[in-house]
Amino acid sequence: PEQLANDPEQPTDSPGQHHWHVLGAGAMGCLWAARLAESFIQTGHTPNVTLILRDNDALASFTGQVVVESAQGEATPFNLKATSAAQLNYPVSNLLVTTKAFDTEEALRSVLPWLDHNSTICLLQNGIRNHLALQNMTGIRVLSMTTSHGAWLKHRFHVVHAGSGQTFFGPLQTVNPEYSRHLSRSTFPAALTKSMNLKHTEDMEKRLWQKFAANCVINGLTVIHDCQNGALLTRPSAHQDLVSLCSETETVLTQTDRLNMALYPYVRKILLATATNWSSTWQDVQAGRITEIEEFNGYLCELAARANLPCPHNQAVLRSITNHHAVIR
Ligand code: PAF
Repeated sequence: PEQLANDPEQPTDSPGQHHWHVLGAGAMGCLWAARLAESFIQTGHTPNVTLILRDNDALASFTGQVVVESAQGEATPFNLKATSAAQLNYPVSNLLVTTKAFDTEEALRSVLPWLDHNSTICLLQNGIRNHLALQNMTGIRVLSMTTSHGAWLKHRFHVVHAGSGQTFFGPLQTVNPEYSRHLSRSTFPAALTKSMNLKHTEDMEKRLWQKFAANCVINGLTVIHDCQNGALLTRPSAHQDLVSLCSETETVLTQTDRLNMALYPYVRKILLATATNWSSTWQDVQAGRITEIEEFNGYLCELAARANLPCPHNQAVLRSITNHHAVIR
């Protein structure tokens, strides 16, 4: 098919009029769906937001509301529509994908028949492999997103917005500056840009590699040391592991031309800013869910193997968290 992704000639309506579908109703999916609905309400529009749930069982369990609780415990309900992919019956113009990385391919495949050259996919998830794979998709505009907002699910469809952060979005490929400006103005409703601190970036791929590197270094270690993010700096044994893992991850990413930066200061900054957070992988393990460790240390080990580079520290983290899965099952 003709390559239409990131075509500067694409017409766009006012973002306030867009209908949004959110694929994936975990913590991030619920948070973003609710904030999108809020942005419609703030501008006097009916919330044009639909959750796409996994199947009819998930649909049956949805009461019609997503609740967002603030860090101070104040809960606000938002009325949202929901459907399952099997019940979709009209084109999807804006799709925010918040599934876990390992669920994305199957989930997206179920929605694909309803996407066309007028559609935009915004991929908001940890890891980088899917972001790289999706940029080759022809005929659909794909934007990547990375966020430092902290959120966790208290119950199904009840999310705690634990920490406010920043969200970057943009295409992985370089596009002309005029199109960049157009994207930054027209992709999201203005009220959402404000509430979720959204910023367009021309450096998306670099940001994703940085986040990926941080996830390789932080997430598995918080499970191994059973601690909040900040303890990786303050507990001597955890800190020693952190330093080794940082150095090895930096070497692999530099030698494979993926990212060239001093990792430790970057990771330290994240750990200080999120000191009391429980990492997403720690939360997954606690809840008995599959973790994204294959997308973090697993992918790092793959890159290292392809370049014949040793990565014993990343392998050890991967093995240890994979063993947790085995115990859970
Ligand atoms: O996965 C997570 O928990 C987050 O990406 C991070 C940056 C490690 C902070 O907790």
